[in-house]
Amino acid sequence: MSLLEENQSTDLEQMVGLSRRRFISAGALCGAAMFLGGNLLSRSALAAGVSEASSKLLGFASIPAATADSISLPPGYKSSVLISWGQPLQAGGPAFDPSGKGSAEAQEVQFGDNNDGMSLFPMPGDGNRALMAINNEYTNYRYLFDHGQAPQSAEDVRKALASEGVSVIEVQHKNGQWQFVQGSKYNRRIHGNTPIRLGGPAAGHDWLKTAADATGTKVLGTFQNCANGMTPWGTYLTCEENFTDCFGSSNAEQKFDAGIKRYGAVVASKEINWHQHDERFDLAKNPNEINRHGWVVEIDPFDPQSTPVKRTALGRFKHENAALTETKDGRAVVYMGDDERGEFIYKFISRDKINHKNAKANRDLLDHGTLYVARFDGGDSNPDHPKGKGEWVELSHGKHGIDASSGFASQAEVLIHARLAASVIKATRMDRPEWIVVSPKDGKVYCTLTNNVKRGDDGQPVGGPNPRAKNQYGQILRWQESGDDAAAMSFAWDLFVVAGNPSVHAGTPQGGSSNITPQHMFNSPDGLGFDKAGRLWILTDGDMSNAGDFAGMGNNQMLCADPHSGEIRRFMVGPIGCEVTGISFSPDQRTLFVGIQHPGENGGSTFPEHLPNGKPRSSVMVISREDGGIVGA
Ligand code: FEO
Ligand code: CA
Ligand code: CA
Repeated sequence: MSLLEENQSTDLEQMVGLSRRRFISAGALCGAAMFLGGNLLSRSALAAGVSEASSKLLGFASIPAATADSISLPPGYKSSVLISWGQPLQAGGPAFDPSGKGSAEAQEVQFGDNNDGMSLFPMPGDGNRALMAINNEYTNYRYLFDHGQAPQSAEDVRKALASEGVSVIEVQHKNGQWQFVQGSKYNRRIHGNTPIRLGGPAAGHDWLKTAADATGTKVLGTFQNCANGMTPWGTYLTCEENFTDCFGSSNAEQKFDAGIKRYGAVVASKEINWHQHDERFDLAKNPNEINRHGWVVEIDPFDPQSTPVKRTALGRFKHENAALTETKDGRAVVYMGDDERGEFIYKFISRDKINHKNAKANRDLLDHGTLYVARFDGGDSNPDHPKGKGEWVELSHGKHGIDASSGFASQAEVLIHARLAASVIKATRMDRPEWIVVSPKDGKVYCTLTNNVKRGDDGQPVGGPNPRAKNQYGQILRWQESGDDAAAMSFAWDLFVVAGNPSVHAGTPQGGSSNITPQHMFNSPDGLGFDKAGRLWILTDGDMSNAGDFAGMGNNQMLCADPHSGEIRRFMVGPIGCEVTGISFSPDQRTLFVGIQHPGENGGSTFPEHLPNGKPRSSVMVISREDGGIVGA
């Protein structure tokens, strides 16, 4: 429907979209209309008046947008720092050096930079202790090095590699608050030079062999670790996202094959520039090293000596996160998004059932199974709340034309070039799939489609779950598997919310769906998390200019939604220049851990210490209620 047609509707139901606004009950609507004296103000004023009173799930007062260099929270909430970039993990370890002159060796035993996805693992038998595995996605040379530039030496590259990967830390509830336990035997860094094993169908394939590893099964490091997953058997999944940015070529004339091109590597290495000082990242000298990255990596946080494993059965792409659930017959399911404009949503189903009695029996469960990719129909074109159907299509060699005729010699090749295989079966090109989460209440699956300013160009049709051309605000997709079984090959989808700016643009699509109001608007939803009660937490990584199309949105933030009513309230605003990413809860739901990544990305922040001329430091924050109650309730 065009914007003009949308705006021609004049009756009450169309103005507030009663039938389409799942979050407004008829009773609440009457109340709001009465409250407003029957004078139908803007749809947003009405929606806001209703929303404040409508959700029983959301028990906090929403807060306004903010542009301060601090954390904003609802009244009655407090925050503190759990851990920040550079903090030494071991007692007596090298202290954080704000000058940027700290060594690579020091960074290898300090908390990594730009924390992202994280999971909390309760310590068996002790409710006051837990381990946290926390991704360190990338680094900001502006702060990492005293020279503030791209790496100038092999030592600089080693330091950058040391700042990424994963940090495993112990946390303890002490003196009424969760705290980092420096010196715990569990504290560990897994970084860009840590030995890792390759497992699954692609392990040992010729395309994974290098001069340093003739077996194609042993790789150094994991980096660009975006978001995460947690298995029911107590292991952590870390997802390698923008790995191609780390590679470049010393041969300015080098021609790349279809695989390298599709994954987006370029000769100049997109500013990361490791290849100039470490041949491992030089595509002219080590053309296969790039194939050893772009995977989901499984880590046992309880065994500091364990070797992490890259699970190739889950496919190689720019992994955002890995959302675990279970089929009705007990097999593991992993939902995964590939965060690039026009890339796909995947689902992996394990061959074997999860053993809930013996965690170790699941050690290689993720090495055997089937990968699928999602295909969506065009939906019903309802601009406020589109919905439709979809199907999962198997990505197995020999099926659906994925074979020698389309350039694939084996399943290993299908997995290494999962993007190319998914294109053979014409999977739906999405608006940058970021996090996926599964509701603990009803099994519905939610996925952020963060934005895609190329939607409408470049062979990416407008429609279905990607309904908006030049999509600068993003949306949250939801689907329900047929028969409520994650093993299903079909599903029904709808858009839970279409973000927008109703204070700048009237109506859909740019003003957003009806559960977007000027009081609670945001752009570029990215991180997602469910708490045990079924509240959906939404974390943003968007345009924080607070101007033009983004006027009134302020800094990046965290919101909380009622999945049934559709109501969304703003819960937290982060400091200047940050992205809010990474979320976890204490088992009692009275503490929320949230990540503040790259505060002061472009300067202007000294968060969290606010020292004179101090450096901003990415940090994990501890959020709780002053009365000790359940967060969000
Ligand atoms: Fe690391 Fe797509 O976010
Ligand atoms: Ca993200
Ligand atoms: Ca993002």
